[in-house]
Amino acid sequence: MVKAGLEDVVAASSTICDVNGKEGRLIYQGYDIHDLAQQSTFEEVVYLLWFGRLPTKVEQEAISNELRANRRLPDEVLKIMRLFPKTANPMEVLRTVVSLLSMWDLDAADDGREANIRKATRLTAQFPTIVASWDNIRNGRQAVTPREDLNLAANFLYMLQGTMPDELSATSLDIALILHADHELNASTFAARVAAATLTDIHSAVVAAIGTLKGPLHGGANQEVIKMLIKIGEPANVEPYIKRMFEEHKKVMGFGHRVYKTEDPRAWHLRKMSQELGVQCGETKWYEMSRKVEELVFQDKGLYANVDFYSASVYYMLGIPIDLFTPIFAMSRISGWAAHILEQYANNRLIRPRAEYMGPANLSYVSLDNR
Ligand code: ACO
Repeated sequence: MVKAGLEDVVAASSTICDVNGKEGRLIYQGYDIHDLAQQSTFEEVVYLLWFGRLPTKVEQEAISNELRANRRLPDEVLKIMRLFPKTANPMEVLRTVVSLLSMWDLDAADDGREANIRKATRLTAQFPTIVASWDNIRNGRQAVTPREDLNLAANFLYMLQGTMPDELSATSLDIALILHADHELNASTFAARVAAATLTDIHSAVVAAIGTLKGPLHGGANQEVIKMLIKIGEPANVEPYIKRMFEEHKKVMGFGHRVYKTEDPRAWHLRKMSQELGVQCGETKWYEMSRKVEELVFQDKGLYANVDFYSASVYYMLGIPIDLFTPIFAMSRISGWAAHILEQYANNRLIRPRAEYMGPANLSYVSLDNR
């Protein structure tokens, strides 16, 4: 029997990530997301996802150094980016630049595991540079050179805004990156694994994943959430706005999940961050409106906020342009995509399901002149 949307179909074995939708638990390689969000760093999580265990101090330093040293984009790629239409969607830019980078990759001809780890490292290091450089280029500013003395999150904010981020902002983004790093066979990761299972190169698999994450039912939802909050404008307008959405049978972006039937554990951290950032920047209305929306959607639909709901107000308060919200998701998820691609290569079989044929049968061909 066909399962619409492959709901609950188990399509791979994996040691990377466990999503327990009933209990609302998210585990990376055996570690609870709450512990990682509170105690770890994004760089450490990258190591954990790729190598299956927490790094020692020496290993942690090595991966951090590699992620810092590989941030720059080839000059040729920056030149090509300057030719893109300034109106290009940043996810299109990310997808296209990753495709370009495959042609400049130092290990392009090598598909061995070590080379693939180097490619994954370069991509993880370069994603923030692509996103920030594009924002600078499209706004007529010079692309800012990445700083090797900052971690990935702080360096991204520095490249984007041209100034050193404050501590709460840098820490908030680092935690957001940890929370988004992996999520089992979500749509984009599945797309990456399907591509990798043909034994195509890692850049091609990542391009497939970026295109998939872009959709509004997946990573694109966080942008729609903030657009909705901006339209609502004030906490007092929340109730009539959301009630009207219900009457018009519209989906409220940032709610519901294919797997979680209780609270998405990532939303807990993002809600807290949204509140803290609101207090720090002296504007708590985004948090207040979000709380009210959350209350109404739960009351009426029994749906919980997902990771995209509170990340919207968090990124907005970090001063990030709205159309960069989904690319930031990608800046984190590249670590999970790479982990799954490596895992797929290590124990590969072509992914090739079947379709149940529902079309007509036994038609007689009629020549063009007689139709
Ligand atoms: N608002 C209102 N109603 C909703 C919502 C929502 N956000 N989500 C689900 N529902 C309702 C549907 O209308 C449907 O109702 P019905 O049975 O009366 O027709 C029911 O709940 C089941 O919804 P489906 O869309 O069939 O659930 P599915 O598992 O296919 O989709 C999804 C999950 C795509 C996340 C869905 O909940 C949705 O569209 N949410 C909004 C978009 C969003 O926030 N996406 C981000 C997901 S997290 C991530 O990708 C990182």
